[in-house]
Amino acid sequence: MDIDSKTANQKICFVLPTYNEEENIENIIELIIQESHNQSKSVFSILVVDDNSSDQTQDIVERVIDSANNVYLISGQKKGLGDAYKRGFVFALDSLEADVIFQMDADGQHDTALIPQFLNAIEEGRDVVIGSRYVAGGSMPDFSMFRLLISKIGNLLVRYIGGAIHIKDCTSGYRAIKTSYLKDLNFGYLSTRGYSFQSSLICDLAWRGADILEIPIAFTSRKGGDSKLSFRDQIEFLLNIPKLGFRNMEDFIKYSLVGFLGVGVNLGVYTILTRYFNFSEIVAPLVSIECALILNFFLHNFWTFGNRSTQSRIRVRFLKFHLVSGFAAVINYLVFLSLFLIFGLYDILANLTGIAVAAVFNYLINSNWTWKNNK
Ligand code: GDD
Ligand code: MN
Repeated sequence: MDIDSKTANQKICFVLPTYNEEENIENIIELIIQESHNQSKSVFSILVVDDNSSDQTQDIVERVIDSANNVYLISGQKKGLGDAYKRGFVFALDSLEADVIFQMDADGQHDTALIPQFLNAIEEGRDVVIGSRYVAGGSMPDFSMFRLLISKIGNLLVRYIGGAIHIKDCTSGYRAIKTSYLKDLNFGYLSTRGYSFQSSLICDLAWRGADILEIPIAFTSRKGGDSKLSFRDQIEFLLNIPKLGFRNMEDFIKYSLVGFLGVGVNLGVYTILTRYFNFSEIVAPLVSIECALILNFFLHNFWTFGNRSTQSRIRVRFLKFHLVSGFAAVINYLVFLSLFLIFGLYDILANLTGIAVAAVFNYLINSNWTWKNNK
């Protein structure tokens, strides 16, 4: 068996993590190779990342390598599925110079007949294609209601807390990813070692604006052997959710901290000007507001949004920031007035609500306009 490399112009690498898959590994490699014969525009390679299986997995792969081109094996200590994927990605990027990486289980649960569908979507310009159980047409036919429920709940947590709401299946292990999106992946940040690597990875891709498509798959039961999903993996998955939430909200949290500092500066400057410099109550607020705005602007520019690549000039950003702040003040005032006058809310509470609504508006507009990330 041999992999075609005729008019190849795209390098596709299948990363198959294995731990004790002697019953399945040869079969899956053969199926992928069969698919490669129908792809004239790309050249396939298969990378098995085995974690020192105690069964015959490595011997089988080595035997396959002897008779096939473009099949590779790397091995290491078993630290978890995520750790194996990270090593596999590095090898596929650095040594195999892959353009597209497939993630796929080695146990036959992922149907290789769908490979052309993944590749078509990539060719049409998608950055990531997910084999999804939770879009129309997708299914998990062999699973109990209980496992389905656990999987659904896990997905809901990742989607809503991790900020990947538009992705239905965040934990699927069947994906094709353009490596341009993996090259500047923060591997250190994806600190998860086990199965939760899958959800961390998809959130990271979504945050960075990857164009992600889900195509339906039927996730059937494994051909031979047992699942390696452990209790530890499930705990790690849950502990990872708040981390995803924080990372997803990081800019907003920084933005709010700077905002609080601004309030302090505003009050401080006002007090000093009126108490020590005889400024009138009419002029002092103008100066103190501007001081707070200037400080906030520079902190946002170099800290909150410091790692964005915004193309506009700094003085344009400065102007936009002032416009947005003015707009937010009007919103603050309108929310306050309507809650106080129309709904009869206690005035302090009405004002607090106004401030909160204005802060969210302020953040959203500054984040998506003033400091729009042009990358
Ligand atoms: N190298 C290595 N190291 N491989 C591992 C390890 C590990 O620690 N743990 C699991 N694998 C390999 C398995 O040998 C298999 O090829 C693949 O990773 C998936 O493991 P399974 O044990 O079959 O996982 P699963 O079927 O329970 O879970 C699948 O579905 C989940 C969604 O329900 C996987 O695709 C998960 O990634 C996915 O989240
Ligand atoms: Mn499996």
